[in-house]
Amino acid sequence: MMNKRSFLDLTVFDNHSLKEMVKLSDKLSTNRFLLGDVLKQKVIALIFLKHSTRTRVSFEVAIRDLGGSVIFLGKDESQIGRGEPIKDTARVLSGYVHGIVARLYSHESLIELAKYSTIPIINALTDYNHPVQILADLLTVYQEFKTLNVKWAYVGDGNNVTRSLVEAASIIGFPISIASPQGYELESEFKEKYKDFDFITFTNDPIAAVKGSSVVYTDTWISMGQEAEKEKRILDFKNYIINKELFSYAKEDAIFLHCLPAYRGLEVSEDIMEGERSRVFKEAHNRLHSEKALLWSIYSGYLSDKILLK
Ligand code: CP
Ligand code: NVA
Repeated sequence: MMNKRSFLDLTVFDNHSLKEMVKLSDKLSTNRFLLGDVLKQKVIALIFLKHSTRTRVSFEVAIRDLGGSVIFLGKDESQIGRGEPIKDTARVLSGYVHGIVARLYSHESLIELAKYSTIPIINALTDYNHPVQILADLLTVYQEFKTLNVKWAYVGDGNNVTRSLVEAASIIGFPISIASPQGYELESEFKEKYKDFDFITFTNDPIAAVKGSSVVYTDTWISMGQEAEKEKRILDFKNYIINKELFSYAKEDAIFLHCLPAYRGLEVSEDIMEGERSRVFKEAHNRLHSEKALLWSIYSGYLSDKILLK
């Protein structure tokens, strides 16, 4: 039985509670210590088997701001790197720490970690999804437009970030159009789950997706673990770069978002990345506020009491 307070995807939130999370994160952006020390005398382990700049640092700072302390375990710093099973690691660490923020390769490993742990597990990215990223993206859009009800376009690889974006759109109800090259679309089983949401659309045409959008979003064409496919992907994605021409189809006041790291000249041009409509660094900074709100929601009992046990 999965412990109740783990955060593996956005579906732990309903429409109301996800909007509340965004509003709370917005308050934290101007009042860093608003939530007190809900993590006092608590230790959170960060298990990162892949590289990270934003997720690792923002979680470490958020945990410290909430009064907790952290233990960072990179891929060579625990026995996981030498093949100790995740389910054993889960049971061992459950006796030492009060939670784990985990960036693993497969989503199945994360589910196994949550299944065998008795402490909250927070998903810091898997090959399937990246829900903590989207919490910060929602905050960035809310701060820009004072509403979440604006149209998004995602142009690029149908990947972990894309799945969490679609999940957010289905919960909040904002329109989104996803444009990916043929062969790089989200899998049909995933799209099937959203077939009744007519405001979520999938296309191969980037111009059609961007037309009339307020948010234009992309991610790397080569995710961590796909380095061997780099040459082929660069060729297959060449018409999906967000440049001035493509961006001109968006609304006048549209913003550009990217989860980062960004590769200029591939998925985004330098002028869009550095341009006046880019909000990518605000988006990155918002990771701190939204993750702090998430940690609070888990450790204050808000998630389990108000949502999962509703
Ligand atoms: N966007 C994101 O998750 O960045 P990192 O890989 O640097 O954590
Ligand atoms: N899709 C990218 C996201 C990085 C934050 C990856 O998985 O590498």
